[in-house]
Amino acid sequence: MTDGDRQPDAAAAFDALGAAYEKAFAGSEAHRASLEWLLERLAPGSRVLDVGSGTGRPTAETLAAAGHRVLGVDLSPVMVELAARQVPDAEFRRADIRELPLTDGSYDAVCVYFSLLQMSRAQQSEVVGRLVRALRPGGHMVLATVPLDVEGVDAVFMGQPVRVTSFAAGDFTALADAAGLTVLREEQTLFTPAHPEAVPEPHLFLYARRD
Ligand SMILES: C[S@@+](CC[C@H](N)C(=O)[O-])C[C@H]1O[C@@H](n2cnc3c(N)ncnc32)[C@H](O)[C@@H]1O
Repeated sequence: MTDGDRQPDAAAAFDALGAAYEKAFAGSEAHRASLEWLLERLAPGSRVLDVGSGTGRPTAETLAAAGHRVLGVDLSPVMVELAARQVPDAEFRRADIRELPLTDGSYDAVCVYFSLLQMSRAQQSEVVGRLVRALRPGGHMVLATVPLDVEGVDAVFMGQPVRVTSFAAGDFTALADAAGLTVLREEQTLFTPAHPEAVPEPHLFLYARRD
């Protein structure tokens, strides 16, 4: 919990989950397919920002193994420590993406896999807008979320209290459009994490480009 408002704290939840998160989501074929799509579009040695990089797997690991220069940013110190150990060929930094200064046009690709869900809707829009500006024109972005029309809902995720805010699928795609992305493809799946306290969850993957 944060000191002031006693709301569930995203970093605390993911500190507690650590490697259990990776294990639970390792079976996501849609996540791996989206990385394959991205790899097909990256020039050698591309600069990639992975927002909410978690344990570094599969995203940073897959991209770094292909020779790309990956910076992973995560709020959770436990996740950053795990990722740095598991993926030594990528760089990881503990930071809140809402506060991290970003230089316009400085990345060839940006990945956002399920890392917006603990932000308000306004913050999600603002962050995606800044990430689009951090992409060079022609650069690609994969955005993945749980497409539900919920705002500030208290939930239990793999045994951890979390407060979740998201958008229905059409509204999330509209957010990406409004931020300046061209959505080239959308994939929707229902995924059940491999964890005794997990329930099936809808996943939306947007494959996009900054034109
Ligand atoms: C659901 S996990 C997904 C991890 C990874 N992207 C994946 O798909 O395997 C979300 C991650 O985003 C991080 N996160 C949440 N809010 C964040 C923020 N404001 N800034 C940076 N990281 C954040 C969490 O700490 C967590 O590691």
